[in-house]
Amino acid sequence: MLIAPLDASDDEALAGWHAAYLAADTAGRDHATPWMLPEMRADFLGERTGEQFLPFAGYVDGQVVSDGLVVLHRKENLDIASLKVWTHPSRRGVGYGSAMLEHVTEVARDAGRTVLSTEVAVPFDGPADGAGHPDADFIVRRGFAFDIGDVVRVLDLPADRDRLRELSAQAAPYHTDYTLRRFLGPVPDDILAQFGELIGSLMTEAPSGELARDGETMDEERIRADERVFEASGRTKYTTVAVAPDGDVVAYSELVVPRHDPLHVYQWGTLVRPAHRGHRLGLATKAHNLLWLQQEEPGPATLVTMNAEVNGHMIGVNEALGFRPVERLAEFAKRLG
Ligand SMILES: CC(C)(COP(=O)(O)OP(=O)(O)OC[C@H]1O[C@@H](n2cnc3c(N)ncnc32)[C@H](O)[C@@H]1OP(=O)(O)O)[C@@H](O)C(=O)NCCC(=O)NCCS
Repeated sequence: MLIAPLDASDDEALAGWHAAYLAADTAGRDHATPWMLPEMRADFLGERTGEQFLPFAGYVDGQVVSDGLVVLHRKENLDIASLKVWTHPSRRGVGYGSAMLEHVTEVARDAGRTVLSTEVAVPFDGPADGAGHPDADFIVRRGFAFDIGDVVRVLDLPADRDRLRELSAQAAPYHTDYTLRRFLGPVPDDILAQFGELIGSLMTEAPSGELARDGETMDEERIRADERVFEASGRTKYTTVAVAPDGDVVAYSELVVPRHDPLHVYQWGTLVRPAHRGHRLGLATKAHNLLWLQQEEPGPATLVTMNAEVNGHMIGVNEALGFRPVERLAEFAKRLG
């Protein structure tokens, strides 16, 4: 197998890379949420300030059989490289995945990274660490250790509007001092700095594994750069925030509508600042945002969310909203010697 960096501006090369990825990512899974080709193009070609994407293609007789991806964080978490390898299901078991993993490991090492992180999708009815699943066993046999288990949950849209309204109404007496505000797409200028601080703390506030991760500095340049990539990928974001009496933005919840993948909607981050917890703002912002989305986009879709298995509070909110568990993501890490 010949491994080369992918030139994502070359349509043919990108199509070959994406075809192998799509087949590998969806094989044997009912609830895979792969990136669509135009989303991938935007992600690979977009100029972000926070992360750098390094995709690689493995060719045999001119055909892409295996893909690799290294994501380098550029502002914080400078010791960590997130990586992933995929082999087309019809070409597995002959060493391509191992060769690609070695390649992306060396790329990460050359970039000065000392910790590798990856995740593997495994069935919900199996163990959290995916033991016994070929993909989890593959990664463990190559020196990775299980770090934390996440659960993927789905909710069929449109969700029961009366139920959402009832949940919002139940939460309302707890947050009478707060105002809910919503915006479609880019973050409004007047709350940009505060919103940046809030989303930048998700990495440290949401439960994560043993891997120490820094909070993210989401300054204006970074937020606007991410928004440009996001727009180019055909994704639209619905956001609801909670504003405290003193004007501080203290909670948010965001939903993502991917235009190139009309049957999915993604529940992204929901976070309440620690000092403002107990006011049901997580449920309030989430339910409010979903009601708004359903009003604007009434068609059927599957809403997908993911939480660490230990995030009892957020899971409680999701279960109240009607989400059901469908799959696990097992996160693994490896320290480079
Ligand atoms: C995990 C994955 C990349 C492995 O790719 P691969 O090209 O089959 O990898 P290799 O051939 O190098 O090794 C696969 C292992 O399964 C064994 N195997 C044998 N026959 C196999 C078959 N028909 N299919 C899959 N694996 C097989 C191999 O011998 C090897 O065993 P080992 O771990 O004891 O060495 C591939 O299954 C995949 O794309 N999975 C989805 C994405 C993913 O989970 N990636 C891992 C996280 S980075």
